[in-house]
Amino acid sequence: MKGTYKAVEVSAPGNLRVVERSVPDPGAGQVRIRVEACGICHTDAATVTGSYPGLKLPRVPGHEVVGRIEALGGGVARWKIGERVGVGFFGGEDGVCESCRRGDIVNCQNAVIPGVTVDGGYAEVMIAEARGIASVPDELTSVEAAPLLCAGITTYNALRNAGLRGGDLVAVQGIGGLGHLGIQFARHMGFRTAAIGRGGEKEKLAKDLGAHVYIDTAVDDAAAALRRMGGARAILATAPSGDAMGPLVSGLAARGKLIVVGVPLDPMQLSAFPLVFGGRSIYGSLAGTAIDTEDALAFSVLENIRPMIETLPLEQAAEAYNRMMQGKARFRVVLVTNDRVA
Ligand SMILES: NC(=O)c1ccc[n+]([C@@H]2O[C@H](COP(=O)([O-])OP(=O)(O)OC[C@H]3O[C@@H](n4cnc5c(N)ncnc54)[C@H](OP(=O)(O)O)[C@@H]3O)[C@@H](O)[C@H]2O)c1
Ligand SMILES: [Zn+2]
Ligand SMILES: [Zn+2]
Repeated sequence: MKGTYKAVEVSAPGNLRVVERSVPDPGAGQVRIRVEACGICHTDAATVTGSYPGLKLPRVPGHEVVGRIEALGGGVARWKIGERVGVGFFGGEDGVCESCRRGDIVNCQNAVIPGVTVDGGYAEVMIAEARGIASVPDELTSVEAAPLLCAGITTYNALRNAGLRGGDLVAVQGIGGLGHLGIQFARHMGFRTAAIGRGGEKEKLAKDLGAHVYIDTAVDDAAAALRRMGGARAILATAPSGDAMGPLVSGLAARGKLIVVGVPLDPMQLSAFPLVFGGRSIYGSLAGTAIDTEDALAFSVLENIRPMIETLPLEQAAEAYNRMMQGKARFRVVLVTNDRVA
C-alpha cells in the first residue's frame, strides 16, 4: 500500500488545493477509512471560507463520507476491516458534557465534526471515531449513500421527530441538496407534500421527487399559498436565506412548526402574532447521530429513496464546490476517488 494519500485541503480562506499526505494510523477508538465518495454540503462553505467559529486551517472539508475500513485503532471491537461505513456531520460525542450526560448526544457541546474540528472526507483516506460511524447497506452504492450521511439524515430526522401524522400538510422550502431529499422523505412518510422554490425551473423536478404541490415564490406568496391549503402542520426550511424563512410562519396551521435546518448567514425576522395567536412554534434541528443515520439509510432502501447526484473526481473538488455554491448542482455533487468499488 502507498504510504501517502491525496487530500483536498483549505489552505487559506477560499483556497482548496490538492495535497499529498502521509497515511496516518488510527488512534485508540478510531478507524481509518479508504474513502470512496464524499458529498459536498452547503455547510462546507463554513470551512472553505474559514468562517466556522474556532476553525483552524489547513483543514480538509467533507462530512458526507462513505468508504471502507482499512485499519482499526486500539479497543475498536464493533467494526471489521473491509466493512463499508459512512461518516456525517456528527463524528462522535465527548460523552462528558451536560448534553451527553442527559443522553442528548447529537447536541454534544464538544462534538467531533469531520471537516471542522478534524479533517473530513475530501480525501482518499480519513480517520474517524468508531463511535461516530454508520454501517452502509449493500443496496446503496457509495455515491448514493454519501448525500444521505448529512443532507439525508438531517431532513429525515427533522421530519420523523416533528410529531406529524399521516396526511398532514408538510412543506419543504429550498430545493437543493437537503430539500430534494426532504421532499422524498415527506412524501414517503405519508405527508401531503408541498415544495417551495423560487422560479418555475424546479417545478417538474420537485413533482418527480414526489411533491404533490409546487409553490413558486417568484409568482406566489408561499405563506398565503399554504394558508389556502389549510395551513402547513410543518415547514422544513432548508434554504440558506433568513429573509425567506421568517415570513413562512404565517403559512403554518395552528400549532404548526417551522423547523429550521438551513443555516442562513442573514438574520430571520419574525412577527410575534402568528406565534402567539395559534400557538405556532419555530425551532432548529441538527443532523443526527450515527444510529439515526442507519435508520435514514434503511428507510431510503425500504422506500427506494435516492439522492439525485452528479459525480466529479476528488481532484476537482474546487470546481464541484463552486457548482454547489452557484446553485447549479442537481442536486448533490459527490466527489469520487479511484478507490471506489461500489
Ligand atoms: N441542520 C443541519 O444539520 C444542516 C445539515 C446540512 C446542511 N445544513 C444547512 O442547510 C442549508 C442548505 O444546505 P444544502 O446543502 O441543501 O444547500 P444547497 O444544495 O446549496 O441548496 C440550497 C437551496 O436553497 C435554495 N434557495 C436559496 N435561497 C432560496 C430562497 N430564498 N427561496 C427558496 N429557495 C432558496 C437554492 O435554490 P436556488 O438558488 O436554485 O433558488 C438551493 O437549491 C445550508 O444553510 C446548510 O448549511 C444544515
Ligand atoms: Zn452537511
Ligand atoms: Zn458531549
